[in-house]
Amino acid sequence: MLEVRDVTAGYDGVPVLRNVSLTVGKGELVGLLGANNAGKSTLINVLSGIVPVMSGAILFEGQDIAAMSAPRRVDAGVVQVPEGRLVFPQMTVRENLLLGGVNSTARPNRSRALEHVLSLFPRLGERMEQKAGTLSGGEQQMVALGRGLMAGARLLMLDEPSLGLSPLFVQFIFGIIDKLHAEGLTILLVEQNLALTLKHADRCYVLERGVVAVEGRAEVVRDDPRTRAAYLGM
Ligand SMILES: Nc1ncnc2c1ncn2[C@@H]1O[C@H](COP(=O)(O)OP(=O)(O)O)[C@@H](O)[C@H]1O
Ligand SMILES: [Mg+2]
Repeated sequence: MLEVRDVTAGYDGVPVLRNVSLTVGKGELVGLLGANNAGKSTLINVLSGIVPVMSGAILFEGQDIAAMSAPRRVDAGVVQVPEGRLVFPQMTVRENLLLGGVNSTARPNRSRALEHVLSLFPRLGERMEQKAGTLSGGEQQMVALGRGLMAGARLLMLDEPSLGLSPLFVQFIFGIIDKLHAEGLTILLVEQNLALTLKHADRCYVLERGVVAVEGRAEVVRDDPRTRAAYLGM
């Protein structure tokens, strides 16, 4: 479904990602691991069309989307749930969710999508008129995830969904990710939580200072000494 081919990208002409290649198959749950500053969010933003590529190709369902605008990529189903949730704090839960589904491909399915989101997160259903900024971190993550689903994600990219959440919420969010995976959604999961990601993902990539250091099935990545080294920065 997604093929990143030899992508170099960064800021102000200085590369952060160097010759990164990875694939995500239809229905796969792929983990993207790496320490702080490895370039994980940069890669997600490159895929979203927020950070331009310096070289390389991004194929989504066979089409090179590297030059496509960010809104058009959302229309195509390439959707990210950003690091730090970034909900609109002054807007209600309902407004946040509905805003997620305003793009042209998602809008016709908004009521069905909302039903799906509320079935995953019944807790949001009880808080529809509450301002999102007054929710707990875990509830805000539900809103952010829900908003991504409302956008009609076909490739859902989650940027550190467990960051700053209590262990109970982390378990819950991973349970939701498993559920979406079981429903057939294609997911690229960015995480620093090595153990949990290796447990849930089909395959993983480890980014180390902008380069793919390790890749493969979860158990292979787990047993590769370079994985630990990438985290410890050795
Ligand atoms: N908007 C930006 N402008 C300049 N440099 C940036 C910007 N965003 C991130 N970087 C730099 O890119 C590198 C990778 O950051 P990031 O992709 O956020 O890593 P990660 O998500 O793995 O923690 C870091 O050195 C960071 O300082
Ligand atoms: Mg990040």
